[in-house]
Amino acid sequence: MEIVILPNSVEVAKFGARRVKALIEKKPAAVLGLATGSTQIALYRELIRCYENNEISFRDVTTFNLDEYIGLNAADSQSYRNYMQREFFEAIDIDERNTLLPTCDVHADPRKAGDAYEHAIAQAGGIDLQMLGIGHNGHVGFNEPTSSLSSRTRIKTLTQNTVAANSRLFGDDEFQPHLAMTMGIGTILDTRSAVLLATGKDKAQAVRDAIEGPVSAMCPASALQWHREVSFVLDEAAAAKLSLADYYRWVHQEKCRILDES
Ligand code: GLP
Repeated sequence: MEIVILPNSVEVAKFGARRVKALIEKKPAAVLGLATGSTQIALYRELIRCYENNEISFRDVTTFNLDEYIGLNAADSQSYRNYMQREFFEAIDIDERNTLLPTCDVHADPRKAGDAYEHAIAQAGGIDLQMLGIGHNGHVGFNEPTSSLSSRTRIKTLTQNTVAANSRLFGDDEFQPHLAMTMGIGTILDTRSAVLLATGKDKAQAVRDAIEGPVSAMCPASALQWHREVSFVLDEAAAAKLSLADYYRWVHQEKCRILDES
């Protein structure tokens, strides 16, 4: 695992954007896994900035989002489709037909919808780089604690903690779903590389459990310890509870020195 501790959330977003940019430079038709949540917004702004400066093009890129609520249609301002359009897709040159989310109509069979999403990922050749956030309870995507570590895309019931944490984003009169479709932990572990961004002190415990705790379904992000190429990119506040923080800083300095990257 690569653990990168940076001074602030701006640097975290820039680091994430550099990883996306490096992939697309190497592979213009890359398959990207994308996430939602407030942490990712700075990443999207940085990628949009790179696009506007002609540093990057998404023309041939395909994207698969981690998750989507059930019970909201695409046009609903709270749907993750709407978030992605608003925060990213509308500002870049991506072909919208190549932007996929694990949608499931309330009347559809979620098992079929999950299988179809897995099939679409496989048809695209698999995900080259999966961007991730982390929930306060250690969830990735909407894989809540006790999710199977080999799960695939499926329906999940959100915990009360997650519903409460995300309620800040919903108005009093807005319907807040408690069901979602999400890539499974097995789906995420199959990606060729993954970058988890975490900022702020309220993520410090989840980050510690994910990196230094035992691999356990109680902290779904801890399954990333099994990922072949994962980077945790943290600001100082999110890294505050790591017992080996100085060691991670030293390793990163050495890596930058040897590979001449930052
Ligand atoms: C939601 C998303 C997750 C995301 C999490 C953290 O629950 N389903 O994919 O990681 O939010 O969001 P934030 O960055 O807003 O803390």
